[in-house]
Amino acid sequence: MIYDTTAPFYDLFDADDPGALWHREFVLARTKGIDAVMDVGAGTGRTAMALAERGLRVWAVEPSRGMRGVMLARLGDDTSLDERLTIVPGDAQTCDLGRSFPLIVFSHALYLLDGSAARVAALANLAGHLAPGGRLIVDFALEEGRAERPRVLAAERRIGEAVYRRFSESIRGGDRLWAVTWAFEVEIAGQVVERAEDTFRISTATLAECRASLAAAGLRPVAEFADYSGRALGDPADASRYVSETARIAG
Ligand SMILES: C[S@@+](CC[C@H](N)C(=O)[O-])C[C@H]1O[C@@H](n2cnc3c(N)ncnc32)[C@H](O)[C@@H]1O
Repeated sequence: MIYDTTAPFYDLFDADDPGALWHREFVLARTKGIDAVMDVGAGTGRTAMALAERGLRVWAVEPSRGMRGVMLARLGDDTSLDERLTIVPGDAQTCDLGRSFPLIVFSHALYLLDGSAARVAALANLAGHLAPGGRLIVDFALEEGRAERPRVLAAERRIGEAVYRRFSESIRGGDRLWAVTWAFEVEIAGQVVERAEDTFRISTATLAECRASLAAAGLRPVAEFADYSGRALGDPADASRYVSETARIAG
């Protein structure tokens, strides 16, 4: 399963990456007056746990055992979130939590699904989990603003005598299809002692196709952004992401 091998490294560089902070703040700003959140593709739980720490009940749905393992390790022997955080092995297309939610978050994950039929199936399943008046936050990888990037050193961190590095690369692999590689290495005393790498198939869509997928799943955008900082969505050619806050068309 993707992310299983790279999960231990996933959060290491967050301190230098505003994206994680933007996401947490974006979601937290939409929790006023609500008590429960479903976080789908919750990853290492960085946002799910922040929500639980604020007193919300959170269902974190995550298919990768490696990512769920990091979430559990973050909890460790701290039982303070046990009453509020439920970690569910599951998938956006098929999960059934048997209840509805006023807020659902499906972030940095929809583009990992293979093509538009899978996208619509996942969005429709999540729309079916929305309580009346509820909101689903989701983002798409935009085709228009995407450019190939050769492998570059994206981040580096020293922990004790070890240097951790993350490399990333983005290559076009076909129509609406990109191969994005995240590679990690650990170096001690000039020797690389560990490597881990994941290549993700990223399924992109034009802005019009994103909106069509939402409509096909019974969802309508109520607010649209270019990223989780809240940057306005202007010309899609200037954005690599489309963040949509959505509601059910009916009800
Ligand atoms: C880039 S991480 C994002 C994690 C988290 N949402 C965040 O924003 O930090 C993508 C996550 O989506 C998960 N994922 C992949 N396919 C999925 C699917 N079909 N349904 C739900 N989650 C999926 C991966 O296992 C991974 O943990």
